[in-house]
Amino acid sequence: MIYSRIVGTGSYLPPRVVKNSEFAARLDTSDQWIRERTGIVQRHIADESQASSDLALEASRAALAAAEVRPQDVDLIIVATSTPDFIFPSTACLLQAKLGIRNCPAFDMQAVCSGFVYALATADNFIRAGTHKRALVIGAEVFSRILDWNDRGTCVLFGDGAGAVVLASAERPGLHASVLRADGSHAGILSVPGNVCGGRIIGSPFLQMQGAQVFKFAVKVLDEVARETVAAAGMDLMDIDWLIPHQANVRILEATARKLNLPHERLVVTVDHHGNTSAASVPLALDEFVRAGKIRAGHRVLMQGVGGGFTWGATLATM
Ligand code: UT7
Repeated sequence: MIYSRIVGTGSYLPPRVVKNSEFAARLDTSDQWIRERTGIVQRHIADESQASSDLALEASRAALAAAEVRPQDVDLIIVATSTPDFIFPSTACLLQAKLGIRNCPAFDMQAVCSGFVYALATADNFIRAGTHKRALVIGAEVFSRILDWNDRGTCVLFGDGAGAVVLASAERPGLHASVLRADGSHAGILSVPGNVCGGRIIGSPFLQMQGAQVFKFAVKVLDEVARETVAAAGMDLMDIDWLIPHQANVRILEATARKLNLPHERLVVTVDHHGNTSAASVPLALDEFVRAGKIRAGHRVLMQGVGGGFTWGATLATM
């Protein structure tokens, strides 16, 4: 039997830190409102010269170094992003060139904030099929580019960054089970409803969200998909050492852990210092806790995504 296993993690955050006070200085908001309603204290924002592929490159180099895998030994690249460098070529192809490698398949995964979990499950299937051995799976975003910086209801929530893992074939799991879901009937509650046509922007190029509806939906499906994934792996919720939900709002994270009866110490929270980095949030949080020595070899980690589409999903992995 072939399985896949995470053998290295990496991440990158752009150097510029934006604190809540910067928003309070020019919008009708406050540090207190943002902290109390979201848990967010600060976020990193990319320089105009940095695109998703640049953030992905730094995160990938760190993950490859941690895994002791050379770029030329990677045989699959999947980049989860909703903020690609261009309409095409894909950010994955641009990243492949920046890594100095050729020929392996490279493609983007568009599932918004669930993108990393979708990409991880996809790479797992390539490896289990026996056709690929070492995949680079990345979540990379520059959501700062699609925010209306005058809309206090959305611009305070998001940040930029990238996280990456190297997923390699293994004799033991590794990844135990993944469950992916989508329901396009909820497309309207979280979207960037614009496109480019004949050189003009049609619709809106800015993120729009019905926050309260998204909140309720997220808590409901994160609970459901955690239970489904643990059951698919033949395990029990109490077997989970760490829960890494998509880092959107600390109240969503805490509500999910509460519904699942998971002790607070097993919940990974990084949204306070990263903001919501969409597809990058789960691998960023994973890498931070691995490098801090909190998530260690043998720990069981349940990673969860939820976002626009609507999409949601989870993967259960032994590190
Ligand atoms: O990545 C996945 C997608 N994103 C999420 O999962 C986010 C999900 N939603 C949320 O996290 C929360 O719904 C928000 C943080 C977006 C909003 O929190 P809320 O407790 O649901 O507030 P609300 O939208 O019900 O708004 C309450 C009030 C409103 O004022 P009125 O109508 O009561 O007078 C808003 O206009 O808070 C107001 N408000 C703000 N006030 C100060 C909204 N944004 C701000 C702000 N500062 N930044």
